[in-house]
This record gives sequence, C-alpha cells and structure tokens, in this order.
Amino acid sequence: MVEKYTVHPSNNISGITNVPGDKSISHRALILLSISEGTGNVSGLLESEDCLATLNIFKMLGVKIEKIDKNSYSIKGKGLYGLKETKKNLDCGNSGTSMRLLAGLLSAQKFSSNLVGDSSLNKRPMERVAIPLTRMGANINLSDHKTAPIKINSTKKILPIEYEMPIDSAQIKSSIILASLYADGETKIIENTPTRDHTENMVNFLNGNIIKVNNKIIIDPKTKLISRDINIPGDISSAMFIIVACLISKNSEILIQNVGLNNLRTGGLDILKLMGAQIYISNIKNFGPEKFGDIKVISSKLRGIVIPKKYVASSIDEFPILFIAAANASGKTVLRNAEELRYKESDRLDAMSQGLSSCNIAHKLFYDGIEIEGGKMCGATVNSFDDHRVAMSFLIAGISAKEPITVLNTKNILTSFPNFYSLIKDIGVNIIRENN
Ligand code: S3P
Repeated sequence: MVEKYTVHPSNNISGITNVPGDKSISHRALILLSISEGTGNVSGLLESEDCLATLNIFKMLGVKIEKIDKNSYSIKGKGLYGLKETKKNLDCGNSGTSMRLLAGLLSAQKFSSNLVGDSSLNKRPMERVAIPLTRMGANINLSDHKTAPIKINSTKKILPIEYEMPIDSAQIKSSIILASLYADGETKIIENTPTRDHTENMVNFLNGNIIKVNNKIIIDPKTKLISRDINIPGDISSAMFIIVACLISKNSEILIQNVGLNNLRTGGLDILKLMGAQIYISNIKNFGPEKFGDIKVISSKLRGIVIPKKYVASSIDEFPILFIAAANASGKTVLRNAEELRYKESDRLDAMSQGLSSCNIAHKLFYDGIEIEGGKMCGATVNSFDDHRVAMSFLIAGISAKEPITVLNTKNILTSFPNFYSLIKDIGVNIIRENN
C-alpha cells in the first residue's frame, strides 16, 4: 500500500520541542565505539532505519550492543582488530552513510564482506569510495554500474595515501579515515571545501590523533581507540523542517532544544537568516566531541537570495526544505554549485522540481541548481520519489499552501525522523495519516 499523509494549512505553531538524535553522529558513534577498547554508552542515538542498519551490521560482526533505555545503548568495543567475519550480506538498507563508511572500515579487515542495499541505495555511485580505497590497497568489487553490492576481499596491507578530494563529501572523507586507522603511516586528505567533521572529532575524542593543517587533514594511525560515553545532539537536518514550518506559518514561535550546532552543519541556518528569518541561538555548550544549543524561531517574512557558494557543503541535506522556504519568500532564490543533490536518496533537484511544478511554483532547473520564484503554493498531490527529505519538505509546504498538500510514498521518513508525524502534530501542524 502506498503510504501517504496530508497537511492542511496551519497557523499558531508553538511549543518547546526536541528533535531525534543526529544521524551522521549516531552512525559514527556505533562504528567507532565498536572498534574501540572498553565499553562506551551512547545516549540520544537516532533509532531510525538507517542507524539501526549500522547497529545490526556491527552485531553481525560480533560486537555486543545492548539497549539500556530509549535511545541509549551500551557498546562493548572489540578494538581495531576484533571484528569477526560473517558470510551473510551486510544490509545497509537505504543508508549511503553506512555503506560508504563501512566500505572504508571493512576494506582494512583480514576478512571478506559483502555490503548490500535497497533499490534506491543500489543506484547510488560507489566508485567515489572505491577509487581512494583501492589506492590504499583495498580489494573492492562493485557492480558493472559502479554501484552496490560492494564485495570486499581481505587485503594484506593498507597503505597511507595523500588524496585530494574530487568531490565535497564527508562520506568519502570518513571512508578514507576509517581505512587509514589501519595504515602503516600517515594518510593526508586535502579538502578544497570543508565538510562535516564528525568523524575527525569523534576519533580524537576516543584517543585518536587527527589534525588539520589549513585544508589538509592528517590521520596518524593509532594502535588503540579507547571507549568513552557519547551524548548525541538533536539532528540539525531534522530541526530544519520544524524551523521552516515555524517561519512560514503565521503567529508561530518555537524553541528546539539541544540541537547539534557543528559549524560545518549550520549553513542552512545562515541561508535562512540571509533570507530574513528570525532565528536565535542560545544555551551553547560543548558536550564531548560536538557543540549543542537551543534554537528559537519566530514566524518571518522571507525574501529570495542568491545562495552563497560557501554555504552549499554545510547545508547539503537541507536544500529540499530550503526550496520550500524559497517558494514562500518574496522574489527569486538562486542556488548553483549543488550538482551533488542529484546523487542523494533521489535526484533531489529533479524530485523537488516536479513537486514545485505540481504546487504551481515557477522555477528554472539547472544541472547544478535551481532558481525559484516565490509565490503562494497551491494544493497538490506530490510524489516523494521514496526520498525522506523530499517527503517531509512537501508536508511542511502544506502548512502555508492555499489548499492541502498530500505526499505519496512517505514510508522513508522512518530512515531519519521516526517521530516526524507525532512531533509536528504536537506543535500544531494539521497533519493527517491517510491510509496507514
Ligand atoms: C553524510 C554526508 C553527506 C550527507 C549525508 C550524510 C555523512 O553526504 O548528504 O546525508 O554522514 O557523512 P556526502 O558525503 O555524499 O555529501
């Protein structure tokens, strides 16, 4: 059955809320505590399909992971060399982060593995990790289309490399970092544009040694990572749906507590502020490897802007919902230099363009971006193309549209924001579950 939701126009969105744990940081906590020595507890872990896929894979690789409480787990690390071979396929589901990061880690093991994914993940490019990992001595086979399944054979030795990133991607960088923990010398990664540094922060938090000198990341392989407890902040990428919901509805004010505010993730907030959004950050604190804070948002009149290139990498997951903000702004918003959006859970430029057309929003599509003319969105039925962020974006759009917006194929929301429906209902959004 096609799962669908409808959002009816809604005002007076309000409340104090928390979004679920950060997806990127949750994956990294599961991976790095599994290869650390000693037991570490994780709290605030995102219990979504993507992160549970990573959790399940480590259980299959012999790691003892126990649930202590809601969103809290204890992980008994096996050390760098303690993972166990399994002949079973390691199923990453819809999660590109699991597949690309684990390709790096498993390339360095003394056993073979086979990483598989769902139909959407099986279409996404994997050569981007296979190329640097092969240079490091990994033995990796992709499908004829350079996609998953990824078959990894054991290798004798992982070599340190110096690698200039051809694409701005934290997944590729993290894949190389995980393999480089096993190399017999320093690996150097040159990033032309910095991308999220959660892997670097967490490796260092767990006794590793990664330094950054200008745009060069230098990884000193260590014999040991040492387990520590990790507290995961709320996901800024999930918070963005609530932030835009509040901005585009009348008489609304909301406070989102304990959100991750890593500087390499907050480009979306900078973009919204340039558009005239009233967003205020308070209560900033450093908690373990990451920065947390509270975000207050008040309904705002948004205006179109040319999105500065410097914010693209730090807001890469936020563009679907930023396009909805742009559709609700006065004037034109222009985004270029964002071709990577075509390689996400869907071709997000294309998927968003189709939805915006259904809602009667004038726009021009480029190979690497879009130009959106703000206006009043019409009601429509929109396809999510099985992409969680496209689905949630058009549901939020229903708040300020002339008529209700129905989104089809909403099941994938569970990959990143399992309580999206109940959370937005609680803050006053008029959302209806149609047939599930
Ligand atoms: C992620 C990196 C980004 C992002 C993805 C999560 C990560 O992907 O889009 O949702 O956790 O490292 P790319 O590395 O492909 O840009």
